[in-house]
Amino acid sequence: MNEPVRVGVVGLGTVGSGVVRLLVDSADHITRHAGRKIVVERAVCRDVEKDRGLPLAADRISSDIHDISRDPSISVAVLLVGGLEPARSMMIDLLEHGKDVVTANKALLAEHGPELFELARRKGRSIAFEPAVAGGIPIVAAISECLAANRIESIRGILNGTSNFILSTMEEDAADYAETLARAQAEGYAEADPAMDVDGTDATQKLAILAHLAFGVWVPWGDIPRTGIEEIDLDLIRFAGELGYRIRLIAVARRADDRLAMRVAPALVKIGTPLAETHGAYNAVSIIGDAVGRMFFHGLGAGQMPTASAVVADIIDTVVGRTAITFRTTGVLDADSPAARIGPADIEERSFLRFRVADKPGVLAQITGILGEHGISIASVIQHDAADAAESGVPLVIMTHACQSQAVQRAVAAIDAAGVTRGKSTCLSVLDDWTPAK
Ligand code: HSE
Repeated sequence: MNEPVRVGVVGLGTVGSGVVRLLVDSADHITRHAGRKIVVERAVCRDVEKDRGLPLAADRISSDIHDISRDPSISVAVLLVGGLEPARSMMIDLLEHGKDVVTANKALLAEHGPELFELARRKGRSIAFEPAVAGGIPIVAAISECLAANRIESIRGILNGTSNFILSTMEEDAADYAETLARAQAEGYAEADPAMDVDGTDATQKLAILAHLAFGVWVPWGDIPRTGIEEIDLDLIRFAGELGYRIRLIAVARRADDRLAMRVAPALVKIGTPLAETHGAYNAVSIIGDAVGRMFFHGLGAGQMPTASAVVADIIDTVVGRTAITFRTTGVLDADSPAARIGPADIEERSFLRFRVADKPGVLAQITGILGEHGISIASVIQHDAADAAESGVPLVIMTHACQSQAVQRAVAAIDAAGVTRGKSTCLSVLDDWTPAK
């Protein structure tokens, strides 16, 4: 048997603790896959005194990253610290000291990927990051290895478990947004500060990483148009349901001539199609490759053991040398990657519009008139008889036929400016094209 490989774990939060447990509890099985024992030599964390009940002796836990980076017996470091700093400095320290790194930190890669990957290459080391995107789903390996023969045409996914939990629970329990967010936090699905989950940042950073792997271009995540789920209310979910759809936060990247059409936004997906049937904290990714056709991946995108599963798989890949080969040969997150040209913002698709209007003569005619002036054709209209029209107006819902998305945006702005609506109107894309790839 080969010498054991010694691993250092940086960060003993939910995922870090899960990784230590998995490495110990499944040691025999992991040894079989890695061809040698993988031993947790040391962990560093902020709160050394905290009892986590881990199978790791107290003298193996400390608070100084140097205890891992300067320990020559440790060859692989697992960086499970979120945010940009001190995570970036820690990653640099680990690479400078010759460690191969496995990380779940997608914000760090989306923000500083090229710099860190360049450093790893210079040092002859590797960075593995399967757990950074869609938790337990092996989507990084799927795109960069298993589907390598394909020109990827599009990626469409639910990449944030917290927002998917909120949207699907609102529908299933007929609960409002604030109540469901509070429940997500109480049940441990949402962070104490869930801002980056619900405003779409987390999904956008993951999409930027996937787009880089799939399309070979560097995508600054801040350039990707992004809308969160904060303004999705129960009425919108109910109206979408009446039309046969669910609302999901969907990340999209697809080839459009010499550009990538990308965005993260709540959208309508047809009930019965895989993205609409992705419930709770699950993630899902649909990919179209020119040779393989459409593929669909579904699994838990967050949580202790699903994420630990991806971390440990990356540790094994690093130990057996697969990560180094992929890292060297695919030019993954190469600093020289061309920057993505994002756009066109104009996409031909159906739109779902919700206005709040005064229930009086001429209002519907005025709205449909403005839509008509912008060349937008209406597929269906819903307005329910409201016994007591609220001060905020009655909801009027319009589904359009496929048309240029920018024309719809302009029409909705013109309708809001015409003074016939109360409050800001809502415009969501309808993702209908669930057809097999050509
Ligand atoms: N907060 C993320 C989510 C998990 O809710 O999907 C970590 O990426």
